Amino acid sequence: MLKMNNISKIYQTEMVQTHALRDFTLQVDEGEFIAVTGPSGSGKTTFLNIAGMLEPFSEGEYLLDGIDVGKLNDNQRADVRNQKIGFIFQGFNLIPDLNLYENIEVPLRYRGIKASERKRRIEQCLEQVGLASRAKHLPQQLSGGQQQRVAIARALAGEPRFLLADEPTGNLDSLMARQVMELLEQINRDGATIVMVTHDPELARRAPRNIQVVDGQLADFTLYQGAQTIKSAAGA
Ligand SMILES: Nc1ncnc2c1ncn2[C@@H]1O[C@H](COP(=O)(O)OP(=O)(O)OP(=O)(O)O)[C@@H](O)[C@H]1O
Ligand SMILES: [Mg+2]
Repeated sequence: MLKMNNISKIYQTEMVQTHALRDFTLQVDEGEFIAVTGPSGSGKTTFLNIAGMLEPFSEGEYLLDGIDVGKLNDNQRADVRNQKIGFIFQGFNLIPDLNLYENIEVPLRYRGIKASERKRRIEQCLEQVGLASRAKHLPQQLSGGQQQRVAIARALAGEPRFLLADEPTGNLDSLMARQVMELLEQINRDGATIVMVTHDPELARRAPRNIQVVDGQLADFTLYQGAQTIKSAAGA
């Protein structure tokens, strides 16, 4: 589904040049659920933003379902993103003066989806995240975990095959974090491919595949799956 070959991303500001990703190579297959861990500033969000086509990259090749993303113009990129990708951002990114229904509706309006279909999808997604009775509430009238579920519903309403989540449990206590994780697991069983950045080792362990980003690159053991097991078998 996703193939990145030697992707590099350099941020150039007045004073410094930051190599946020260097020679980043990764393949994600359809149906996978991957947890991404790594130190703060290591490039996790940069990787997700590039995977979600929210940011250009400096070098390398990125294929999504065989489409060469680097060769698309802005409109084509937006089309592919709208068709395939859902994004759950670091923080909730809800619009404070819109109610839940309207928050989920915004990206659907952008896509030109007609009102009856918008209604169907919004009701279905609110149901799925257990907030059907709260459609008229404002974000501030909800708990952190509920707000995070709205953010998930908003991503799901686009019916994405590929869901990118940047610390979807970052602001939640452990019980709510587990509930959000269960919701993501359900979404994965329903067929979406998920890449989730997390700082929570317990949640990362629950994901079938873990990768670690260190200094803009995949850590070695993630390149050689099973290396960890070999190491621990050797008593290292
Ligand atoms: N817009 C930007 N301009 C300049 N530098 C940036 C920009 N965005 C990110 N960076 C730099 O790129 C590096 C990677 O940042 P990134 O946000 O990907 O880290 P992260 O792994 O998501 O960290 P965290 O766990 O704290 O969210 C950091 O050194 C950061 O300062
Ligand atoms: Mg980040």
